[in-house]
Amino acid sequence: MRLLDKLFENNRAWADGVCAADPTFFHKLAEQQAPDYLWIGCSDSRVPANQIVGLDPGEVFVHRNVANIVLHADLNCMSVIQFAVDVLKVEHIIVCGHYGCGGVRAAMNDDRLGLVDFWIRHVRDVARRKREELLALQDEDRRWARLCELNVLDQVANVCHSSIVQDAWAREQPLAVHGWIYDVADGRLRDLNACITSRREIDAITKAAQRL
Ligand code: CO
Repeated sequence: MRLLDKLFENNRAWADGVCAADPTFFHKLAEQQAPDYLWIGCSDSRVPANQIVGLDPGEVFVHRNVANIVLHADLNCMSVIQFAVDVLKVEHIIVCGHYGCGGVRAAMNDDRLGLVDFWIRHVRDVARRKREELLALQDEDRRWARLCELNVLDQVANVCHSSIVQDAWAREQPLAVHGWIYDVADGRLRDLNACITSRREIDAITKAAQRL
């Protein structure tokens, strides 16, 4: 119960395997990290960032929370974005939601789960703003899936409107913000066509939302 031996055993096997394929792998990584991507995703155990996109340690900087929410008042998330943009100089920020998100469903159903209710309240706000569109969908699963998509687009907008990203664009630092969604049922990623690379393009998020 206290030692989790299996996980340490797995770790030894993994590290040995990586070294066998490339003996310099950990030495190189220990020097510095230089990821091109910041991933903002859901904490859901079925959506592990590196594995889904086939990237090794060192290749993607990751922030995950329940329902992949980006709030300007969240110092944790904003610090991750600031460090990734200003220090690591990532060129891509990927907000990746997923179909079947429990946080989004709880928001949709107004479930009472505890402290997390305060957090997913932000997804309820997205649902409230898109109420008409969501109510037009008769099927509950389709409504759930659509709210997962709309939540991603809302969080993409929040990333784009952050002073960190706005300042990066103002100094012409190459930086693209993407909105993706992952399907836990088939392992496939889908691009929500909300790639924003400058202040001028922010309106495209709304257009992407209408196109889907
Ligand atoms: Co989720």
